Amino acid sequence: MITLLKNPTQIITVDTKGRNQKRGSELNDVSPLEDHSIIIEDDIIKDFVKNDSVTEINFDNVIDATDKIVCPGLIECHTHTAYAGSRAEEFRLRLGGKSYEQIAEAGGGINTTVQAVRKSSFDDLVKLVKPRVDYFISQGITTLEIKSGYGLSYYDEIKLLQVINHLNKNSSIDLISTFLGAHTFPPEYKNDHQQYIDIITDELIPYVAEHNLAYFCDAFCEKTAFSADEVDLIFKKAAKHGLKLKLHTEQFNNVGGLQTALNNNAVSVDHLEVLSSGDIEQLSQSDTVSVLLPGVSFFLDYDYAPARKLIDNGAIVALATDYNPGSSHISNLSFIMSLAALKMNMSIEETISAVTINAAKAVDRNKTIGSLEIGKKADFAVFDTKQYSDIVYNIGKNLNCMTIKNGKIIYQN
Ligand code: NIG
Ligand code: FE
Repeated sequence: MITLLKNPTQIITVDTKGRNQKRGSELNDVSPLEDHSIIIEDDIIKDFVKNDSVTEINFDNVIDATDKIVCPGLIECHTHTAYAGSRAEEFRLRLGGKSYEQIAEAGGGINTTVQAVRKSSFDDLVKLVKPRVDYFISQGITTLEIKSGYGLSYYDEIKLLQVINHLNKNSSIDLISTFLGAHTFPPEYKNDHQQYIDIITDELIPYVAEHNLAYFCDAFCEKTAFSADEVDLIFKKAAKHGLKLKLHTEQFNNVGGLQTALNNNAVSVDHLEVLSSGDIEQLSQSDTVSVLLPGVSFFLDYDYAPARKLIDNGAIVALATDYNPGSSHISNLSFIMSLAALKMNMSIEETISAVTINAAKAVDRNKTIGSLEIGKKADFAVFDTKQYSDIVYNIGKNLNCMTIKNGKIIYQN
């Protein structure tokens, strides 16, 4: 099947010249192409051709993008979309002056959501999560990472991963499943960390790997969650079972997580609100992606990650919503791009690179998605506007009017 995606005002190619990632000033170059259409063969980008050189009759299918901006399908590389219940009461407490960490220490926070997930069946969870996935699709997102981490028992972690995998099979986009059994300690193991870690390393990781339930293993390295040594133990076991690694780290405190993640060749380190200059230097030399989550800084009202220093020093920077019920109840990726521009001093182009090619690298798919280059997947977000800066300038507004996955329209508005 040969498809023509014809006549957009601009194609934002995010061309990487085959490098499949962007560092430093490369993030500022999104390589817009004008007067061109895209030829798609099945699910692959075949060519970019001058508008006056194509004859529509030669194509099996024509998608009209006149007056629209075509971008790579957006990649949401860090979410906790698979949750149940609400944390509105804790939100209210925070508005009254309690901090996120105080609420977590008092047994709330992540564990509030754990209680709700444990009470929910597989079917309940599928019903809750499906419309959230659809909302991401409506924004032009064609690849979406979703973590477990609200089950925190053998049975409930597997249940959450099965929900993500079930939705992946039945969804028009790619869902990338991440095992986050090490999100925090559940109440029953609050005073016996080793026993819970044993469940993760001896029972959950082998099961998850054997049944192909996750691509990544993630953990939360923090005073209120797992220590660097505990993460190291979990990472060694996960890697042995073929899982790739990610880490929530340097969010509130430096407790050694970043070093552990880099030593274990993690694909990404996420949060990074409290980096030292030595950390920035290390990330700049590393292939590990720095995933920044400005929605958390906004939602919890604390410091933003040092995006400018990371980019200027050459780190590979990506952006994500971190959509979850407690620290970033935000599932609008273009709002995150606006926050990154306004609060972290990123340029519009840098925010685009951060939710396309660098986000693709954060989910280890950058060889096939994240930029519009010949041979890559025909995944596109089509924006109903004449200039791409509008995507970031229209704060919180969804300008995506068409989502194309593997060469097929999967959403249209
Ligand atoms: O990425 N930092 C740890 N985990 C999540 C928050 C999860 C929650 O509060 O429910 C995060 O911020
Ligand atoms: Fe997170």
